[in-house]
Amino acid sequence: MRRGTITFFVINLVIIAFLFNAFSTLISLLFEDGSADAIHRAEIPAPGSDLLENRPQMIPKIIHQTYINETIPVQWKGGQQSCIDLHDDYEYMLWTDAKSREFIATEYPWFIETFDNYPFPIQRADAIRYFILAHYGGTYMDLDDGCNRRLDPLLSYPAWVRFTVPTGISNDAMGSVPQHPFFLRVVESLQSYNRNWGMPYITVMYSTGPLFLSVVWKEYISSMRSPAERVRVLMPDEYKGHSWSFFNVVKGNSWHGKDAQTIFWMGKHWMLLTVSGFLLAGVVGTCLWWTWSVWVMKVGKPHVGARKHGFLRLMSPKEKYELADRMA
Ligand SMILES: *[C@@H]1O[C@H](CO)[C@@H](O)[C@H](O)[C@H]1NC(C)=O
Repeated sequence: MRRGTITFFVINLVIIAFLFNAFSTLISLLFEDGSADAIHRAEIPAPGSDLLENRPQMIPKIIHQTYINETIPVQWKGGQQSCIDLHDDYEYMLWTDAKSREFIATEYPWFIETFDNYPFPIQRADAIRYFILAHYGGTYMDLDDGCNRRLDPLLSYPAWVRFTVPTGISNDAMGSVPQHPFFLRVVESLQSYNRNWGMPYITVMYSTGPLFLSVVWKEYISSMRSPAERVRVLMPDEYKGHSWSFFNVVKGNSWHGKDAQTIFWMGKHWMLLTVSGFLLAGVVGTCLWWTWSVWVMKVGKPHVGARKHGFLRLMSPKEKYELADRMA
């Protein structure tokens, strides 16, 4: 192989190794199916059944939801009310923007600067749910998650998150005891993930959103210690779509307009986006290779000062012919 080609491959290898190292957790997420911690269907009694309901309940009976203010849009009122009605013995906490800010300023002043400076409101909506779970414990759910049955069976785990297909977890429904090590780690990670990735959607998703949570989760489960530190995983069928599922999701308009809708869409399809990203990188790499090859061809021609380029001297006419042949 010619020296230029070798240089090209070495540079590429270094770049690939760097990317691989930087995104190794992301890559290992591709192969994480959540099965090791899945809440098995057989662990969950039928809705209304007393069976197994006498298991100790660890997660406090609190439902947390977030919205800009107290005026809940009409399309979500039904879902919100279904949760309140089914859980009349639970405390219900609605975290408005004003309440959220006050809570952070009072309880976690070290975070208020980051919180205030998030460029997108949805980042605050993401961050606050991790803090309130770490602080009060309870069950958080998005406003478009209506309740299909009581949450009691999910209270018997120290913490749970919701698995998304094909991999990763979402932050739209989750539960925890106060001070659970996973959610402590999540809130402690927020500042170091607060980076601008150029594109709003990626910035939101990787700084506070589902991708951020998935990466922290993947790192957390790779180094887990005791049963109390385990984070159980609610699988898609138990999340929605069946008579025994916990939630029924109301497709509604999003709260911050079209931008947020796109973010939500991307949050739900981040795996597709990640794969597309790698494909794009592959295409760019191929184009670079092609450009490089064409350049080698050009300067390889006689009378173009080829002799200045040491490696081209090593190219015999036969090799040049072969290269031209390959390029054709
Ligand atoms: C709540 O926020 C919505 C959306 O920004 C706004 O239209 C509405 O007027 C607000 N309600 C109150 C009571 O401030």
